[in-house]
Amino acid sequence: MAIGNSDLPSFPMARRCPHHPPPEYAELRAQGAAVRVSFLGTPVWAITRHAEARDVLTDSRVSTDPASPGHPFGALAATADRMAGQLTDMDPPDHSAHRRMLISEFGVRRIREMEPDIERLVDGLLDGMAASGAADLVEAYGLPVASAVMCQLLGVPERDHAFFHDRACAMLGGVFSSRDADVARMEILAYLDDLVRSHEPGQNGIIDRLVTIRRDTGEPTHEAIVGMCFMLLLAGHHTTATMIPLGVYTLLDHPDQLAQLRAKPALWPAAVDELLRFHSIVDWMSFDRVATADIDVSGERIHAGEGIFVLGAAANRDERAFTRPDDFDIHRRSRHHLAFGVGIHQCLGQSLARAELEISYRRLFDRFPTIRVDAPADGLVFKYDAAMFGLQELPVTW
Ligand code: HEM
Repeated sequence: MAIGNSDLPSFPMARRCPHHPPPEYAELRAQGAAVRVSFLGTPVWAITRHAEARDVLTDSRVSTDPASPGHPFGALAATADRMAGQLTDMDPPDHSAHRRMLISEFGVRRIREMEPDIERLVDGLLDGMAASGAADLVEAYGLPVASAVMCQLLGVPERDHAFFHDRACAMLGGVFSSRDADVARMEILAYLDDLVRSHEPGQNGIIDRLVTIRRDTGEPTHEAIVGMCFMLLLAGHHTTATMIPLGVYTLLDHPDQLAQLRAKPALWPAAVDELLRFHSIVDWMSFDRVATADIDVSGERIHAGEGIFVLGAAANRDERAFTRPDDFDIHRRSRHHLAFGVGIHQCLGQSLARAELEISYRRLFDRFPTIRVDAPADGLVFKYDAAMFGLQELPVTW
């Protein structure tokens, strides 16, 4: 049956608790794997279960391009300027061509090479925090770690790191007015434009790689290089910056499991994946799709031109895929979670993100064995209805 406009549940739904996705997700998941909801007055499909979420995200008859007819963000896309190089909004073959240019910068070997630098910069931040005896881990740790790694990844010169950090936080942090965020966005774009234009090949980082590819093959265009760098910043900065304090908070909230991690550091990789599954900070908004042909999902027919949101946070709590899904358990095997998506758009930066998170958590807890939250239980502010769930601040002391 095609989507009709009846009394559909209103979407999106807000989180109300630091430990769980919106409570309505469990009801939608019980109702079916593909459920119709009303997104700002327009009917769209919500995919609620793990197996079907995988099916939809790997189906070549599903597009992520906002310009595809019926895409849930189509109206917005029609009014916005389209920036070149946005992998997240591209279908094959353009998507494959652009992703191929970046892939070697994100391989496991490349990330292993980056790890000593990440450790150094994390230790530097911890040194800075040590003297004061207290800190807000959002401002003093999550955001600067994410900015510094992004500078290293792109190849932003040392002298510009402070500017880059300041502007990235103003653009993505959500604590500034949207006018400040717009100004910061324009400043970052102008900065990247200059940096790419003046770049001399032979240095480190993604800009160097892309400029070298262009010198050798004529592609990608200058605009596409700037667009790809900007897209990486959008995809990789705030995600990691958000997960760092959120993970610390969750581990402090589960002291028995934190004690096991301290006793047996080999448990860290599984713990990082469990944190990613448990919080699923990247939810429906990044899993925006549209069917380009009729597809069947668990007995429901999704017609060509009908919009889809995959509810990553619902799929990651699906009891068909995870035992006791609402429990936080570092011992579970959770690597098949969908916190990084799946299919051709699966997170390109996932190895880097895992490395950043593990290093940030491990080194913080090693350095400050007595660290604790410095606020009453009901004194923390969570961003329940933001595009990305997270903490506004995480005051800690040690
Ligand atoms: C906690 C950290 C992170 C999370 C939870 C996360 C999550 C995701 C998810 C769910 C997607 C898939 C969206 C879709 O299917 O449309 C994605 C895509 C992507 N991510 Fe990440 N991400 C993280 C960190 C990073 C980092 C550090 C980078 C790089 C610096 C990065 C770069 C990308 C890129 C380039 C894509 C688009 C891939 C494509 O469309 O082909 N991400 N991410």
